[in-house]
Amino acid sequence: ACIWVVVPAAGVGKRMQSNTPKQYLPLGANTVLDCTLGQLLSHNKIAGVLLGLGSEDSYWPDSIWFGHEKIKTFVGGVERADTVRLGLDYLSNQLGLKNDFVLVHDAARPLIAHQSIDDLLANTNPCGGILAIPAKDTIKQSLETSKPSCVEKTIDRNLIWQAQTPQKFMIKTLIDAIDYAKSQGVEVTDESSAMELSGYQPALIEGDTRNFKITLPIDLVIANALLMHEPL
Ligand code: C5P
Repeated sequence: ACIWVVVPAAGVGKRMQSNTPKQYLPLGANTVLDCTLGQLLSHNKIAGVLLGLGSEDSYWPDSIWFGHEKIKTFVGGVERADTVRLGLDYLSNQLGLKNDFVLVHDAARPLIAHQSIDDLLANTNPCGGILAIPAKDTIKQSLETSKPSCVEKTIDRNLIWQAQTPQKFMIKTLIDAIDYAKSQGVEVTDESSAMELSGYQPALIEGDTRNFKITLPIDLVIANALLMHEPL
């Protein structure tokens, strides 16, 4: 069976200090988004990609994947969860998919290896799961969210994982979970957070450190170096 991927690409990338949204910055021969889509489209279990674009997006027509038969675009929302929610609407209403799994993958994670997708698809936790990396640093909890701050305590590193995407959930369940989070006024930054709020415990599937999210200028330097070093 094949699976759809919702790719939220409607962000502006504030932390990148660039006028061009980070998903359209150069990576390898093309852009970050082109690289992400290339990895997804070349995987044999992926039925198609639902790509959520910004309402003012003027870059997509220049993509090497523009017009690809397996990509459907839609206009995303204000927050990432709104964009994902709109993509799920399409799967549910236009394609009639409800009790099927879906993947959600950040446009800004271009170095997603096929092996990681395979590992996520193979996991059988009924509520779904996420790719994540066990923390390697010692983890401190801050006294407050503002900076500068002080250490309140050290958190047991063995309990800490850094969430990545793709994340895999049942379409109908994820729609309900995102709507519930919204109704509670909670701003979720990934799909798992929404599922957790509804009481689910998604599986943690160990991913690949190369699948980091392009966020800061240095991330592009690292991603380019990795691409030149060896194929994914
Ligand atoms: O900003 P952040 O790195 O958390 O964004 C993660 C992903 O979500 C990016 O691919 C970004 O384009 C996307 N996003 C979106 N719609 C928004 C905000 C972010 O599709 N309103």
